[in-house]
Amino acid sequence: MADIRVLPDAAALASAAAALFAASAAEATAARGLFSVMLSGGSTPRAMHARLVSSKVASRIDWERVCFFWGDERCLPPEHPDSNYRMARETLLDPNDVPAENVYRIHGELPLETAAASYEAELRSFATAHPPTNGLSAPRFDLILLGMGDDGHTASLFPHSAAIHESQRWVVAVPHTTPPPPLVPRVTVTPVIINAAAHVVFLVSGSAKAERLQKVIAGERNPDELPSQIVSPTHGQLTWLLDADAASRLTAGSSL
Ligand code: 6PG
Repeated sequence: MADIRVLPDAAALASAAAALFAASAAEATAARGLFSVMLSGGSTPRAMHARLVSSKVASRIDWERVCFFWGDERCLPPEHPDSNYRMARETLLDPNDVPAENVYRIHGELPLETAAASYEAELRSFATAHPPTNGLSAPRFDLILLGMGDDGHTASLFPHSAAIHESQRWVVAVPHTTPPPPLVPRVTVTPVIINAAAHVVFLVSGSAKAERLQKVIAGERNPDELPSQIVSPTHGQLTWLLDADAASRLTAGSSL
């Protein structure tokens, strides 16, 4: 059963997300000496990142023990304004002096299939170095952060994409020629990786998402139309952190 938390506004959502990140980091580093987190792209995470730099919350995190991954990337160079890596580097990694060896970015500058294959290889070597203890072969990330698009997509699992139902590969390349922008191919982790996580947290903000969010959380199950519905951690937690605008169509007791 998913945990749904509604915060009054986007600022409170960002603070709650930063507090959750810090708590997950503290638990993981105390238990295993390492915190593995997969970041989301898009714009919503920016405000959370800001709180993970300036606030007291940030001072509690041992950044040298945090390993950063991405759930998806646009196939662009790392310095491109639309690169998910660039956004995270500028807003979170550089301000916290995260060591380069702790950053496992998707090489969006490579040819599409090469970028996907090299990221899968990166995840496989990480899983070898840090074997999961839940019986699954996929690496068990301590925390996977996800956004949700107005169309119900998450990561780069867009409506009617075969990647939604991928059950073997951990990373796939997806063409992307229709909105939402940018209209560039993507590299994305598949549900095999997402659903192996210890904790998956969606951050969803804004009234533009309300109608689709209600369908994802409380509507009929139809992941081809609503790809975010494919997220259901096998042995982990699922949390929805919403602001009141995004949650405005949810009725009391809505649940996944
Ligand atoms: C991306 C993201 C994507 C994003 C959603 C929500 O590369 O764009 O991974 O899945 O999380 O589109 O984006 P916003 O946070 O900008 O609304």
